[in-house]
Amino acid sequence: MTADKAIAWLESNESESIDRLMAWLRIPSISTDQAFAPDVRRAAEWSAEHLRESGFDVSIEETGDPAGDGHPIVLASSAGSDDYTGPHVLFYGHYDVQPPDPLELWESPPFEPVLAPAIENGPGERIVARGAVDDKGQVMMFLEAMRAWNEAAGQAGGGVRWTVLLEGEEESGSANLDRYIEQNAERLGACDVCVISDTGMLGRGRPAITYGVRGLAYTEVVLHGPDQDLHSGLWGGKVPNPISELTKVLARLWDDQRRVTIPGFYDAVRSLTDGERAEWGGLGIDVDAALRGIGLPPEASLGEDRFTFTEREWGRPTCDINGIIGGYTGAGAKTVIPSHASAKVSFRLVADQDPEAITRSFFAWLEERTPPGCRWEMIDHSGGPPATVATDSAPLRAAASAIERACGVPPAMIKSGGSIPVAGMLKERLGLETIFMGFGLEDDRMHSPNEKFELDCFRMGARSHACLVEALRALPR
Ligand code: BES
Ligand code: MN
Ligand code: MN
Repeated sequence: MTADKAIAWLESNESESIDRLMAWLRIPSISTDQAFAPDVRRAAEWSAEHLRESGFDVSIEETGDPAGDGHPIVLASSAGSDDYTGPHVLFYGHYDVQPPDPLELWESPPFEPVLAPAIENGPGERIVARGAVDDKGQVMMFLEAMRAWNEAAGQAGGGVRWTVLLEGEEESGSANLDRYIEQNAERLGACDVCVISDTGMLGRGRPAITYGVRGLAYTEVVLHGPDQDLHSGLWGGKVPNPISELTKVLARLWDDQRRVTIPGFYDAVRSLTDGERAEWGGLGIDVDAALRGIGLPPEASLGEDRFTFTEREWGRPTCDINGIIGGYTGAGAKTVIPSHASAKVSFRLVADQDPEAITRSFFAWLEERTPPGCRWEMIDHSGGPPATVATDSAPLRAAASAIERACGVPPAMIKSGGSIPVAGMLKERLGLETIFMGFGLEDDRMHSPNEKFELDCFRMGARSHACLVEALRALPR
C-alpha cells in the first residue's frame, strides 16, 4: 500500500486531528513546576491512549528520579509487518511544555488553544497555545500520521517497526533521561536510527532537515559577600558589593571581539569549512527580516567577529547570561548593599565541546576572579552535548524523499542553535544517529507568549511522516 491512502485520510479527517491536538494542548504539562505534576502525567496518559488507538503496544514508564520528582515516559512500539525490511526507528518527542509566563502578554489563555485566522503578509491560519509548536503540535503530526496509516491500511505504524519514546522532562533539562537510556540500553539499542520533530523549517513553505543542534551547559552562580544586607551610605565604596562585583566579573566573559575569554573554551571547537560557510550563505536567509521580526534594526546583528548571523547560531559556541538577581527590586528606592547576588549563565556548544568540561573551566575561571573576602556558590544545572548528525545515510535520504513527496519541494539542509539533549545521549550511549525533521517557523514564539503553530506546517509535517512510512518500507535494514 502507498502513502496516498494515509494522506487522503489526513485530508478528510483534518478537523478531528486538530481537535485532538487542541485537547492535548489544554493539559498544562509544565515540567519544571512540581505543582503541575498531575497534569504532566495526564498529558502522558493522553498520548499513550492515542498511540493505543493506533494499534501500538504502549506502556507508561517511571524514570526513577532519586528525588521522586520524575515525570513519566511514554514508550510504545509496533512490531512491523512480516515483510518489513527497513530500519527499526525510534521516534522521540516531548509532551511537556515551558511555563507560560509572563501571562499578561498572552492574547488568549495559554492552555485554552484557539484557531486564529491568517493575517495578510503575516502568519497563516494557526493554533495559538503553549506547546503548539514545542512540541505537542509536532509530535501530533507523527501521531496523526500513525493514526492515518492504521485507519487506512489496518497496520500499526503502517507496518514499520517503531519504538516511540515521549518524554515529559525535556523542557526541564531531561535530568532523568540519560539514566533511563542507560538502563534500557538493550531495548532502545535495538533501534537503528532516531527521528525527532522538534526543530524548524528554513521559512514558510521551505521544509528542512536539521543536521546539527548545539549542546548546552547551564549554570547558576551566587556571589556571597557580607553576612547581612548593609546601608549603602555607611558601607558602600569600602566593602565588596556582590552585585557590582558579580557584574564586573561576568562582563569579562567576552573580549572586544565578543569571543568568550575562558581559557581553552574554543579548543575542541571544530572549525567551519569553506564549503559549509558557502552553503549556508547560499540559503537566502534574510537577516534584516529576521531582525525586523523581533523589533530590531539591521545594525543589531551582533556577535563574534568574523562570523555571519547564521554562522554565529549554527556553527559557533556562545555564552549568555539568562537571569541576574540581587538587591532591592521592589517599588521605589532602597539604599542597600545586598549580602549576595546571583546569575544564571549558560553556554551553547558546538561539536566537539564537552558540557561538563566547559562548566568546570567556567567555575575555575570564576574561582580565580573571586573578589576579596567573597565566596562563590556554583550550581551545575543539566544540559547536554551538541549533536551533529550524518547527512548521507539511507534513512536520511528516505526522510528527504518523504518530505519532498509530501511538500513538493526537497528539504533544505540546515542547522539550529537550539538544543535537544536526547540526540547527544542516544549517540553517546547507543551510537544512534538522529534525523531532525521539524516544521516550526522562526516566528512561532517558542517559549514565549502567544506560541503558535501554523496549520500549513502541521499539514506538511503530518503528510511528511505519512510518506516517511512508505520510504522506510522501501529500505533494506
Ligand atoms: N525544541 C527545542 C529546541 C529547538 C528549537 C531546537 C528550535 C531546534 C530548533 C527544545 O524543546 C528546547 O527548548 N530545548 C532547550 C534545551 C533544554 C535543555 C531546556 C533549549 O534549546 O534551550
Ligand atoms: Mn522542543
Ligand atoms: Mn523547548
